[in-house]
Amino acid sequence: MGVRSRQQAARVFVAEMEENGMSMGFYKFAYRVGFTPWEQAAQQGPVAQQVEAWFAREESGREPPYGKALDLGCGTGRDSVELATRGWQVTGIDMIPKAIGAARARAKSAGMEVEFLEGDVTALRAAGVGTGFQLVLDGGTIHGFKDEQRQVAAGEVSAVAAPDATLLIFAFAPGRRGPTPRGMSRKDIESAFSGWTVTDEESVDVSLPKFLKAPDPSWYRLRRQTEQTGMPEGSERPLG
Ligand SMILES: C[S@@+](CC[C@H](N)C(=O)[O-])C[C@H]1O[C@@H](n2cnc3c(N)ncnc32)[C@H](O)[C@@H]1O
Repeated sequence: MGVRSRQQAARVFVAEMEENGMSMGFYKFAYRVGFTPWEQAAQQGPVAQQVEAWFAREESGREPPYGKALDLGCGTGRDSVELATRGWQVTGIDMIPKAIGAARARAKSAGMEVEFLEGDVTALRAAGVGTGFQLVLDGGTIHGFKDEQRQVAAGEVSAVAAPDATLLIFAFAPGRRGPTPRGMSRKDIESAFSGWTVTDEESVDVSLPKFLKAPDPSWYRLRRQTEQTGMPEGSERPLG
């Protein structure tokens, strides 16, 4: 392939990602070559502490076992295994076999039982994740989806979550950034997750690769609205 056609192919690839969201091809390639910047980012002190505080908030005033947790796009299972260690009954799902293999190995070496499924976040029921999840974690998966995929994923999450569930979402701000996540705004989240209320939004103090244009990431906490009051339960619980 000549230089011009390579450049053209790269432009088509980037345009396709911007149009269609993160593809399986991108993640397959990323895990194959070990290009997983989200894993390094998660290990930065302030980021790890922030995630720990979100988990602690859901556990506050309770004793383990805390109930069922679902990790959407669990990758190599860092958060899944952490939640299981804390006393949650965890299911992790990811579409990349290599990531699921690494997640299973991580759980095994930690001596934790976690169910890891190879499947698509836009087809949770078909993947057999089950129902009744009190905690659903999206550590950077849905913000890579195109709009329609996000809508479908939100419907699937609502179908498998418990009536009093909490949903934690990590998302970049919206932006055109080639093959990397297109992000989503609070408004995008609110419009996809009907029946849920954003109770908290917190920016993330993280150092990310320079090629990511203005990622400005945030965590969002959502609660499902109860039928009786129309108000999200636990929206008043303080963080930490
Ligand atoms: C940015 S990574 C985050 C991984 C993990 N949550 C973490 O924090 O380390 C996004 C993950 O979502 C997975 N993913 C992307 N789209 C998916 C889909 N439609 N169904 C299942 N997994 C998906 C990718 O394979 C990847 O592991």
